[in-house]
Amino acid sequence: MEVIERVSTIRDHMKALRCSGKRIGFVPTMGALHEGHLQLLRASAQENDVTVCSIFVNPTQFNNPEDYKLYPRTMEKDIELLKSVGCDVLFAPQAEEVYVQQSLLQFSFGPLEAVMEGEHRPGHFNGVATVVSKLFHFVQPHRAYFGQKDLQQVAIVKQLVQALNFDVEVVRYPTIREEDGLAMSSRNKRLDQKQRQTATILHRALQLAKDQLGQKPVYTIKVTVEAFLAGEDQVELEYFEIVEPDTLQPLAEVQPGQEVALCIAAFVGSVRLIDNLLVNLN
Ligand code: PAJ
Repeated sequence: MEVIERVSTIRDHMKALRCSGKRIGFVPTMGALHEGHLQLLRASAQENDVTVCSIFVNPTQFNNPEDYKLYPRTMEKDIELLKSVGCDVLFAPQAEEVYVQQSLLQFSFGPLEAVMEGEHRPGHFNGVATVVSKLFHFVQPHRAYFGQKDLQQVAIVKQLVQALNFDVEVVRYPTIREEDGLAMSSRNKRLDQKQRQTATILHRALQLAKDQLGQKPVYTIKVTVEAFLAGEDQVELEYFEIVEPDTLQPLAEVQPGQEVALCIAAFVGSVRLIDNLLVNLN
């Protein structure tokens, strides 16, 4: 596996690969790799000639400086994991390489970023869109893989690709979970043992809502989920929304045959976690 830190080097390397006719799959990450990331990488390795992973803890997408500081960084272990899943190229730049000067770019995604993560993490998607645009320019992949776990991020990236005519196919990959249902996340490493057990409450809340979907009004389901989380020590619900899966706009009611997304964000201790389920109503 090639490990590349310089923007000029990754550009040259990718150009040579493209010129030799290789199909390029790309998995952008912030490192502290877990099975969720590795599945995206395996899918890319299977569906493309060359797989590129980026590891870059992107400062512009952290609306909370403490979260940026505490974000786990495990480069040596990550490199071993990347080798084990057949990744061909790792791009791991320093912040000064990516941001030669302070970025003043402002993206706007309209209603898509007015809800959920966009509403609760001001500037977050601006940072994501900025770094994903830069990474797409450096790597110029044919396909890029993103996890359903960050459902709104996938929607934002799709809108970005459309708006800027990036010649990239965006692939959404299902959420990978621990055995007890907790969605895998680099932030799970920051939970202590008790909090780690408590954290399954996000998935349990989504299951509870799923069971009631189509039986009870949306409003009642929301109240039930809020009460369910309110009963748990150390847990603070930020939002629970029942939304249309592409536009992510909240639904006041649901119809048989409809696909909906159930989305949740909550603090467990000081760690902010998100999760979602896509549900097809019979
Ligand atoms: P990061 O949180 O490292 O996630 C990298 C990719 O892995 C994202 O597409 C994310 O949705 C996916 N992922 C994380 N946990 C997953 C899980 N349990 N199952 C399936 N996929 C999962 O998301 C980012 O980094 C950044 O915002 C980034 C896109 C790299 C831009 O900085």
